Amino acid sequence: MKRMKITVNTETDKAPMKDLFGIFFEDINHGADGGLYAELVRNRAFEFCNRDNPRYRPLTAWERVQEGGARVEWMIRDEDPVSRKNPHYLSLEVVRTGGRAGVRNMGYNRGISVREGEHYLFSCYARRKGEVSPLLNAAVTDAQGEELCKADFSISDRWERYEVTLTPSRTEHCGRLQILVSGPGRIELDFVSLFPEKTFMGRRGGLRRDIAEMLAQLKPRFVRFPGGSLIHGGSLNPADRDSAYRWKTTLGDITERTARRNNWDYNQSLGLGFFEYFQFCEDIGAKPIPVLPAGYSPQEEQSVPLDEMQPWIDDALDLIEFANGDKNSRWGALRASLGHPEPFGLEYLAIGNEEVAEGFFDRYRMMHRAIQRAYPNIRIINSAGPFCAGDAYEKGWESARENHSALIDEHYYQGPEWFLSNTHHYDGYREETKVFLGEYASKGNRWYNALAEAAYMTGLERNAEGVGLACYAPLLCNTDYVNWSPNLIWFDNHQVYGTANYYVQKLFMNHQGEAVLGCTAEGEMAVVSLQKGAEDCFEGDICLGGNRSSVRFFDISLLNPVTGEKVEYDEFTTRKDEKQAFAQTQWKSFVLRFKARQLGPGWGIDVFFGYGDEENCYALKLGDWGNQDAILISRTNGNLAIYTQNRFHVEQDRVYEIELKADGRLVTVVVDGKEIVSHRLEPFRAKPLYYSASREGKDIIVKLVNATQNPQPVELALEGVSEAEGKMYVMEGYAPDDANSFEEPCKVTPAVKEIQVRGGCLEVEMPAYSLKVMRVTPKGRADCHFPE
Ligand code: AHR
Repeated sequence: MKRMKITVNTETDKAPMKDLFGIFFEDINHGADGGLYAELVRNRAFEFCNRDNPRYRPLTAWERVQEGGARVEWMIRDEDPVSRKNPHYLSLEVVRTGGRAGVRNMGYNRGISVREGEHYLFSCYARRKGEVSPLLNAAVTDAQGEELCKADFSISDRWERYEVTLTPSRTEHCGRLQILVSGPGRIELDFVSLFPEKTFMGRRGGLRRDIAEMLAQLKPRFVRFPGGSLIHGGSLNPADRDSAYRWKTTLGDITERTARRNNWDYNQSLGLGFFEYFQFCEDIGAKPIPVLPAGYSPQEEQSVPLDEMQPWIDDALDLIEFANGDKNSRWGALRASLGHPEPFGLEYLAIGNEEVAEGFFDRYRMMHRAIQRAYPNIRIINSAGPFCAGDAYEKGWESARENHSALIDEHYYQGPEWFLSNTHHYDGYREETKVFLGEYASKGNRWYNALAEAAYMTGLERNAEGVGLACYAPLLCNTDYVNWSPNLIWFDNHQVYGTANYYVQKLFMNHQGEAVLGCTAEGEMAVVSLQKGAEDCFEGDICLGGNRSSVRFFDISLLNPVTGEKVEYDEFTTRKDEKQAFAQTQWKSFVLRFKARQLGPGWGIDVFFGYGDEENCYALKLGDWGNQDAILISRTNGNLAIYTQNRFHVEQDRVYEIELKADGRLVTVVVDGKEIVSHRLEPFRAKPLYYSASREGKDIIVKLVNATQNPQPVELALEGVSEAEGKMYVMEGYAPDDANSFEEPCKVTPAVKEIQVRGGCLEVEMPAYSLKVMRVTPKGRADCHFPE
């Protein structure tokens, strides 16, 4: 087989790579509570309520203990609480003694996980009411109530915080935290907590060590936080129980952090707040990238009046002072009082997440100007919405250009075929505003997905001049609380594993480099088509249907504009989510015309074309995503890709005249005489090999990705280097569908071997579906650094 030659120019840096690859942490999938935040007690402050989730009650995750004839009455009270910000607490009244009387917390997943001989810090606020024995007993039990460790403590008649250390006699993953009252009488409890002593960096009330270590091992350049969708929506008053995310409510003693409704349908304790976030970034050597809401909520269509924006602007200014201010400044002093007198060195600040309407951009402009006036060196990040092209995307860029935003946050989740076909996506982007690819993923945790992302990342590296930052999303998922899949890291209450995608991210972050190097290729093999059917037209059925709606279609015709051939079709009605195939075409060009009326509520009208089967087709969806968008999509082997999105709402009972014109791969849609979208749906193809090169200090780093079933031998020439040695990180030999799991956490992980470059060349075999990262140190070369 012919060897492809890749020549790396090792002597000239093309562009700095700075903070290119990082991570995005959002409390989705119980990523913080029940995840990275090491608290083992679920609903510790009895603040769960049905505004967080319809199934929640203040006693969710708690059970009553009444054994041996004992009887306990339990209720939630809120008079004279520990904290007005979290007013609910548990009142326990032992009305009959006899055996064990009290409560147990079930923790997350199947229970609380503890390990033999390790120390756990139990704490709670408690007080007794009236004449009652002051003795409480805290224990970790198994699911049947057998005690693994316990401690007694006596309480007073005022709220006080109590703390004892518990050391289990054996490992248990289905444990409970039990609190017993030696009754009779009434006691009250709040902020019941159990933390492993061994947290990440040994911090009290800190982060779960195994998960945090996996994040640290990525060596991310930055951490985007706290969302995501989590940052918008909710009440505009920060004191409200269901307030939008406001960073100031996440500081200080946990009793003063108002537990909040999290957009992902659960309760967020905010134990992992902004201080802990900054500290974690510092601990792992990553730069913080906080995201703040702009007082505008797209989903609930509520926004702060423009003349009342000052508190939201202040939130941004104060956050910068909190991170960077002198310890004598108001917010810098607060930071110092929390234990960090030195500034955190904040450089970036993002405003908004996926908001794309005028209302957002008006508020963005105000915040941007105020921040830039006060802090000209802060790099402000604008928002471009959740699609890779279309109205919203353009609107975001328009605002970024107008405001001279340092970066703009782009998001897209696409099938692996889209990523493999679009590694040139940023080739032309050389603007003042850089891209922050703040969320992306190829919708799967198989090796093939990870490879597609690796291929795409070579394109991000090559374009580091236009792309400033990029991070995969979402990061974490507790397997028993899945809001979103796929994710980079999966865990339960005692184990964690990185996906194939994680190991790709790790290789790219660990070996990012500081400057991009130029590469040229000779002798490339042909590209591989990834879609079924012809590449120059849309071969297959044409179908019409409704998206969660029933639709009447009439005056339907299909025209071949080249031959003039025209076919007319009978009218028909499709019921909710039904589609009807009525024509088939292999024409290079066609014009489909029809009228449609949506007969009841729903999301709108679908036109499928080039339809082979449900898994392999193209579609125009008028009124998708809550009946607000017109999108052009494809499905390839079931994998969805969204080519472009524009705003469009389908009105019920209105007759629309719709024309869909396909001219080769160019699709143009006209509704009621107005063009609403025109986009070329390029066929998906994999290149025989994806590659990028970079330099870090003396080291030359080369990444090669083969995402096809064909082996591709490579001759790697390092121009300007004669002898070098180093390591090669190898991911090969897996089937495209292979994936990691709790059972096989290391099925798809890199192997490492020593390599030597002799005579400036290295022969590298690239078998089917393989990734290799070479990092070599040339002999006798002086160390160098990219100038700032
Ligand atoms: O990453 C999951 C979600 O996807 C984010 O919260 C949101 O920004 C996006 O829609």
